[in-house]
Amino acid sequence: MKKILILMVLGVFLLSGALLSASSDEQVQDEYDEDTYGPKDPIVWEKPVKSVVFDHKVHTMTAELDCDSCHDDLFEMEAGAAEANEDFTMATLYEGGYCGSCHDGSTAFASNTRCTTCHIGVRGQARLLGESGAVEKTH
Ligand code: HEC
Ligand code: HEC
Ligand code: HEC
Repeated sequence: MKKILILMVLGVFLLSGALLSASSDEQVQDEYDEDTYGPKDPIVWEKPVKSVVFDHKVHTMTAELDCDSCHDDLFEMEAGAAEANEDFTMATLYEGGYCGSCHDGSTAFASNTRCTTCHIGVRGQARLLGESGAVEKTH
């Protein structure tokens, strides 16, 4: 009798554990492979304006881009490198530099549309940092 009870408790325990892990976002994030898809945490720039976000996952995992479609011609593999350049501006994007190399309205949505998709705002950034501990650049 005691044995059956123990087995039942164990069963419920295992079952709820399985359900929990199946529904948890954390589980999905654990499976994200940084070697295959690049850094997990979004990169957030502060200069020239605050709160511009770049997410590797969207580009590599979802849009299936290779690392060398951006590295190292458009971007160095170092968060914050581009924002040290004076030409990291919308004007350069509109001319096809940096993000604008793809965000030109044909490969991906144009840089002069959907401003808030890249510019997530100070509140959006706070939310993002809270959720993922994004790499914030402040120099
Ligand atoms: C669509 C463009 C794009 C693609 C594709 C891409 N990256 Fe990146 N990557 C960036 C940008 C933008 C940065 C930030 C550079 C900066 O701030 O100057 C970056 C930064 C990095 C960094 C530095 C992170 C840090 O915290 O310093 C690493 C490492 C990296 N990428 C690896 C990869 C790998 C591995 C792949 C392929 C699986 C990849 N990237 C694909 C755009 C891209
Ligand atoms: C090598 C091409 C390429 C480069 C360079 C690139 N992107 Fe993208 N980006 C894409 C593609 C493809 C998509 C998905 C299709 C679309 O949304 O139009 C995308 C989607 C996005 C999205 C939409 C995410 C969503 O949830 O809808 C954002 C935001 C974004 N990119 C920001 C950036 C920023 C910021 C940069 C520069 C730091 C950048 N991208 C550079 C190709 C690129
Ligand atoms: C594909 C992503 C993307 C889109 C879309 C985008 N931006 Fe930007 N924006 C950037 C990046 C990257 C920078 C440079 C990094 C920074 O300032 O933090 C930047 C910088 C800026 C700056 C400061 C530099 C400058 O050019 O004066 C302004 C202002 C700006 N964006 C306005 C806008 C407006 C307005 C829109 C919509 C019409 C827009 N952006 C759409 C990515 C984007």
